[in-house]
Amino acid sequence: MPQSTPTSPLARPVSAEAQALVRQLAAEGHLSADAAEQRVRQIASELAATGTYRQSMQELLLGSRIAWRNNPQCVGKFYWRGLETRDCREAGAGDGDESALFEALVDHLRLAWNGGKVRLLLSVFAPSRPDRPGPRVWNGQLIRYAGYRQHDGSVLGDPETADLTEAIQRLGWRGQGTEYDVLPLVIQWPGREPRVFDLPADAVPEVRISHPEYPWFERLGLRWHAFPTISNQILELGGLSYTLAPFSAWYTCTEIGARNLSDTNRYNKLPQVAHGMGLDTGRDRTLWRDRALLELTAAVLHSYDQAGVSIIDHHFATKQFVRHEEREHKSGRSCPADWSAIVPATSGSTTPVWQRRYEPTRTRPNFSPHPAPWPCGGAGR
Ligand code: ARG
Repeated sequence: MPQSTPTSPLARPVSAEAQALVRQLAAEGHLSADAAEQRVRQIASELAATGTYRQSMQELLLGSRIAWRNNPQCVGKFYWRGLETRDCREAGAGDGDESALFEALVDHLRLAWNGGKVRLLLSVFAPSRPDRPGPRVWNGQLIRYAGYRQHDGSVLGDPETADLTEAIQRLGWRGQGTEYDVLPLVIQWPGREPRVFDLPADAVPEVRISHPEYPWFERLGLRWHAFPTISNQILELGGLSYTLAPFSAWYTCTEIGARNLSDTNRYNKLPQVAHGMGLDTGRDRTLWRDRALLELTAAVLHSYDQAGVSIIDHHFATKQFVRHEEREHKSGRSCPADWSAIVPATSGSTTPVWQRRYEPTRTRPNFSPHPAPWPCGGAGR
C-alpha cells in the first residue's frame, strides 16, 4: 500500500511541534495570539526543565480533532468536530498498574456503546516520556474475534488476528474455539510483562445478521461486533506520542458486509450466501459474488437498524465526505485523503468520491500505525 505508508514529515523537535500546535489553535480561533505566545513560552520552560510537557485539556481535545481531520484514511471526517476526548493520562501511570488501564478501557467501550447510539470517542492514556515509553495494547481493536490456525492451514474465526491469537495463546490464554471468540486484551507497559484481561460480556455488544427478505439468512449464524475501536494507532500531537489512544466510531455497512465477512482472507462467507440464494457458483459470469456481496451488505445494514445500533451506509458516508471536503476548502484548508480508503469496497462508481482525486498528504497532528509488538509477530494485519 504505497499510498498509505506514512511519509514522515521532517522530524522536528518537540518544541517546534508544540509551537506549531499552539499557533494552529490560535489560527483556528481558539485562543488569542497573545495567549498563544504566552503558552509557547510556558511550554518551552517546561521542556527545558523536564524534557517533556503536559498538554492542556484544550490542546488535547482540539488537537485530537485536528489529528482526525488530518488523517487521510477516514471517510467519516465530516464529523471531526464531534469527537469527544477522555483524559485517561493518569490511569495506571503512577505505579504502572495494568488493571487500572483495563478498567479505563472497559469504561471506554461502555461509553462509546451508549446503548446503541454509538459515540465518536477517543481515550487518551499516558504519553511517552523521555524516561519511559507509553503503555499499549497488543490488540489492533479493543473488540476483535480470534483466528485459530488449523492443521490444514485454514483459520477458524478471523484470519486477520491469527498472529495475534497465537501470541496471546503463548501467554497462556485458551479460547472456546468458536468462529466468534472475543479476544482478551493484552496490556503492556514497556519493560514489564504483558497482562491478559478478558472483556466482560456487557462491554462487547454484538449484532446477529439477518436479511430483510431471506428467512434462511440468519441460520448462517453471522454476527459482528457493534462498532470498531481502533487501538493500534499512536496519536502524534504537539510533539508528544500517545501510544494508547483507542478511537471508537460507528461502522459503515460496507466495512462489515463487503470486507470483514466477505474478503477471501477474512470470513469468506460469499459462497455460503450465494448457495442460500440458489446462485450458480461454478462460473464467475453468473456474478454470484457480486449478488451475494450486495445482499450480505443489505443484511448488515438491516440488522444494525433492527438492533438500534448506529451504522451508516456508503452513499450517505461519501456524500458527507464531499461536504466535508468543500467545507475544508472554504476554510482555506486542503483535505488529505487516500482515494483507495475513501471509495467504498462496493458500488464505488455510484458514489460521488469516485470521480474525485485526493492527495494522501501526511501532516501532524495525526494518527499513525503502531507496529505489532508481539515477539515473532508479523505486521499485524
Ligand atoms: N474497517 C475496520 C473494521 O472493519 C474499522 C476501521 C474504522 N472504521 C470506522 N467506521 N471508524 O473493523
